[in-house]
Amino acid sequence: MPTNQQRPVRAPDLRRWKADGRKIVMLTAYDATMARLLERAGVDLLLVGDSLGMVVLGYETTVPVTLDDVVHHARAVSRAVRRPLVVADLPFLSFQASVEQAVRAAARLMQDGGAAAVKLEGGRSVADLVKRLVEIGVPVMGHLGLTPQAVHQLGGFRRQGKTAEAAEALLADALALQEAGAFALVLESIPGPLAERVTQALEIPTIGIGAGPTCDGQVLVTQDILGLYDSIPPFAKVYAELGRATVEAASSYAEDVRQGRFPESEG
Ligand code: KIV
Repeated sequence: MPTNQQRPVRAPDLRRWKADGRKIVMLTAYDATMARLLERAGVDLLLVGDSLGMVVLGYETTVPVTLDDVVHHARAVSRAVRRPLVVADLPFLSFQASVEQAVRAAARLMQDGGAAAVKLEGGRSVADLVKRLVEIGVPVMGHLGLTPQAVHQLGGFRRQGKTAEAAEALLADALALQEAGAFALVLESIPGPLAERVTQALEIPTIGIGAGPTCDGQVLVTQDILGLYDSIPPFAKVYAELGRATVEAASSYAEDVRQGRFPESEG
């Protein structure tokens, strides 16, 4: 099993891993305890995603998540780990207004939050912002396909890139982000053949979520794979039932307290 003695993962490593055919492993993390466990499991990248709004803060979408929310959780994650590359999400409307707004928001994530890279949703419309961030030393990961921050415009959490026109637009967005200097791209909920086409067209790696097996890496929401969140997307795989185990453990504890079985003796 990988140990945390290995050197930290850095953004430029990913392009090399793609060239070598080494698959990239990313999971979300929002707190120090989970981040430490995921590091022990050998996960390469930890994403402090704005999905924290749904799985940690109880919102129905990622739209209400603020920069302060992400900074708070990014700080907990980055403090806890050494090897994984910590990527933090720029939340909805925290960066699109101007280059200055994007730079200030990235500064919060990296300087206050301790992230080593930022992720942002959008294609050609944000390419200029990506270019400027990269020019000044901010590693940027793109995010195309189902971009959850646009849920109200998309009309729900729907699969994207299904028509020939949408597929061409997504490919153009991907190339624009690569040209702007993004070091990797998340492709969310798009048909596998389109993800394969984008992956082959790019030198930077693609990291898929509901985008089939041909991407250069995969990402999932940790709460989904651990059975800790009730509403799991169809493409996620549940690797453990920790939600059920938690209810059982807490019920046993409650029963022991009520029956006077815990604590067993003083001290
Ligand atoms: O916020 C998030 O967790 C994400 C992943 C689902 C890619 O953007």
